[in-house]
Amino acid sequence: MKVAPSVLSADFGNLQRDVEDICNAGCDFVHVDVMDGHFVPNLTIGPVVVSAIAKCATKPLDIHLMVENNTFFVELFAPLKPEYISFHIEEEKHPHRLIQKIRSLGIKPAIVLNPHTPPESIEYLLEDLDMVLLMSVNPGFGGQSFIDSVIPKAARLNELRNKINPNCLIEVDGGVSDKNIQALKDVGVDIVVAGNYVFKHESKEEAIKSLQI
Ligand code: DX5
Ligand code: ZN
Repeated sequence: MKVAPSVLSADFGNLQRDVEDICNAGCDFVHVDVMDGHFVPNLTIGPVVVSAIAKCATKPLDIHLMVENNTFFVELFAPLKPEYISFHIEEEKHPHRLIQKIRSLGIKPAIVLNPHTPPESIEYLLEDLDMVLLMSVNPGFGGQSFIDSVIPKAARLNELRNKINPNCLIEVDGGVSDKNIQALKDVGVDIVVAGNYVFKHESKEEAIKSLQI
């Protein structure tokens, strides 16, 4: 299991220290939550702060867009060369076109599904994706409780990707901790995002290791 700590739970007064800490503590990716105040009821960071994160991160960036105008934001963040850019299927009229655009910029494309969105909704996109991110909370805030229905949903997505595109990874985001990591592993999840669990733990290294099972 790979681990992508969410910078949303970092101390923004000490952002460089916290980003360096999670990278030194052995995380696999740095998860960056971009919210525009429209798609979700919260507003986070833009290119100025994300490029500061990119400068001090020694692990690849995993950018999670929670925005209305996906194409605009993809173009804004592409110069930072993140490993992944993920966008919400609920907010995109032309997901296939956007996947192609992200790939043409040399970035791995990923799609995010809100808790109510079935895996079958992206069946015909799976062959073109590098990753599917399943939300296990409603997007917008860190520190929420894990929604258990993501477990059977990840199991269903695992069947679909094994059939259509075994190279497509499954990521889960929201309320992840040592309490649900085994269940996520058992249904084929490859990467977890963890905000509060990593940043509120007394040792970020121990927290990250406890999820890398
Ligand atoms: C929620 C974000 C998550 C969040 C996870 O909209 O996408 O990445 O920061 O935080 P925790 O792990 O605290 O639920
Ligand atoms: Zn996220």
